[in-house]
Amino acid sequence: MTQKYFNQLNYTLGNEDTSIDCQIVKDLGCENIFNVAGCGSRSFPLVAEGAHLSMVDISEYQLALCRLREALYRQLTFNEFLLFLEFPPFDGQDNRHERKRIFRELDLNSRDREFFRGLFVENDWQSLLYLGKWERTFQTMSHGLRLILGKHYSKIFDFYNLEEQVHYFTKKFPRMRWNALLFLLGNKSVFNALLYKGDFIEKNVEEDHFEYYQKSFDQLFNNNLARESFFAHLCFFGKINHSDGNPIEAKEQNFKAVKETLLSNSIVEYHQGDLVEILAREDHRERYDYIGLSDVPSYFKGEREKSFLQEISPSLKKDGVICLRNYLRIPDCDISGFEDITHRYQELYKQEKVGVYRFKLFQKL
Ligand SMILES: C[S@@+](CC[C@H](N)C(=O)[O-])C[C@H]1O[C@@H](n2cnc3c(N)ncnc32)[C@H](O)[C@@H]1O
Repeated sequence: MTQKYFNQLNYTLGNEDTSIDCQIVKDLGCENIFNVAGCGSRSFPLVAEGAHLSMVDISEYQLALCRLREALYRQLTFNEFLLFLEFPPFDGQDNRHERKRIFRELDLNSRDREFFRGLFVENDWQSLLYLGKWERTFQTMSHGLRLILGKHYSKIFDFYNLEEQVHYFTKKFPRMRWNALLFLLGNKSVFNALLYKGDFIEKNVEEDHFEYYQKSFDQLFNNNLARESFFAHLCFFGKINHSDGNPIEAKEQNFKAVKETLLSNSIVEYHQGDLVEILAREDHRERYDYIGLSDVPSYFKGEREKSFLQEISPSLKKDGVICLRNYLRIPDCDISGFEDITHRYQELYKQEKVGVYRFKLFQKL
């Protein structure tokens, strides 16, 4: 059987800790959010405070996965949501029968139903949580990590106290092996070979790739418990292997608040295409008080890199905020008409449980 559906999704679990964005939109009191979709895990948690959500993605399949997540929020209980996606504590058990039953009852349009039915049949109704190309790449890399770090590779997950973890990470962590791992895996050619096929980001930050990932993991493990980082779980175990590591979408309080917002007649909007072209359209004029661009601008080049903020500015209300999660490249863009308010949440960024992003927040004047 050709793996028709398998290679369509880049992200399924996602690779951003959205709890940070949730705190920023709550603090700003945002009511109308426009967000890069990805797999949905970076967007839905943002509506916990009742905001209206519009999502954009160039990939039809990513948007389909977001629509599946929306149906899961609307129709399932928290435990059924965890089971269907197979977050701990529902990992490591056979949920295929239950997943098939739930899928039959989901409100999906016929195209999405056909797509996901094909995907589940192809994967024997196993969870799709780690089926994304990005997630599978890190599962592959996790084999290398366990090999290089040796039998005590998971020791850093034993800590419930940050001070003790930092002491271990500073004094006893297998630093030589760790640096070798980062050197071997944390570079452009490996990422291009395994995932980006030549489209990997053109780095412009001062650090080289090794220093960038070393700094990112140092920030992660010096400010957050490893056991509470879904990203660290993925890097070390190839999956989240304890509910302490679940991301915010799999936390009961946020799930219930998002479900309540969605069931209070909140219609989620889906836009397929290029985010700059869509936001520059007249029908989006002065609609949003928060635009979350993820790390998409880090992929921009040339004139697009210079002008994207100016092109999307009309879609923002006065005082509206644009959030960039820069990765290896800080876009060299024209910020006239905006105030850089990144400093306002400086302490928050350290708590981001992936660690590789450099946040930039711009407020429209
Ligand atoms: C790098 S990822 C971010 C996703 C993400 N980190 C997550 O956790 O789901 C970027 C997402 O933006 C989409 N994308 C990339 N360039 C875009 C563009 N110009 N307009 C709209 N979406 C874009 C990609 O399809 C992908 O789903």
